[in-house]
Amino acid sequence: HNVIFEDSNVASVQVAQEIADLIRKKQALGQNCVLGLATGSSPIKVYEELVRMHKEEGLSFSNVITFNLDEYLPMDKGNMQSYYYFMHEHLFNHVDIPEENINIPDGSIPQEDVVEYCLSYEKKIKDHGGIDFQLLGIGRTGHIGFNEPGSHYNSGTRIITLDHITRVDAAPSFLGIDNVPRKAITMGIATVRSAKRIVLLGWGNNKAKIIKKTIEGEISSHVPATYLQEHNNATFVLDKGAGSELT
Ligand code: F6R
Repeated sequence: HNVIFEDSNVASVQVAQEIADLIRKKQALGQNCVLGLATGSSPIKVYEELVRMHKEEGLSFSNVITFNLDEYLPMDKGNMQSYYYFMHEHLFNHVDIPEENINIPDGSIPQEDVVEYCLSYEKKIKDHGGIDFQLLGIGRTGHIGFNEPGSHYNSGTRIITLDHITRVDAAPSFLGIDNVPRKAITMGIATVRSAKRIVLLGWGNNKAKIIKKTIEGEISSHVPATYLQEHNNATFVLDKGAGSELT
């Protein structure tokens, strides 16, 4: 189902609250909490609120294990455009998550080892009992993670070629499209679908068209996010702009 909020800040605080409640519930049970995380502009306020809760309310991340959706390929961890850098900047550097609990696809893996690496990433998620809560953004192509149009329903973590529109959208932060990597490592559609709970964030008018297709369109690999329609515990959290074309 979908929920439309007056603005994205209020929505983000609510999503962060759900994540915090889950972390605390798992803590009380003596269990780990496995989070699937996204980068990009959409989740920034959620991370900001989680950091605030850590600093002001004592929310601990000591039992949290994270798996990020994707990383550019090739990409070095030290590069400011890396998702590794993004996650540390916005979340990990400001909370008490043990470094060994953080998993982000490694964009510096040698070409010949990538396939095996992707399989091991997938296996590690399963070995931790799967993802309890998956946070998603959505690209204008309808990608979730970097599962671009054409991605198979049963796809796992793998290499993907980025869609031209995705590279256009990333161009400003890379100071030009020529600097945007052509490939990425991404969790697959099946990886995302196997999460017990999914929350997709959509903000602003420029997401309105793809949000409409995602929620009201036919389920198809042309818009990979439509696969979420079949998930039994997925919520599209939108602001007025992103929800403006829904019937
Ligand atoms: C990022 C990711 C992508 C983004 C999507 C939207 O880890 O998986 O699917 O969520 O490209 O990006 P923003 O939020 O910047 O509009």
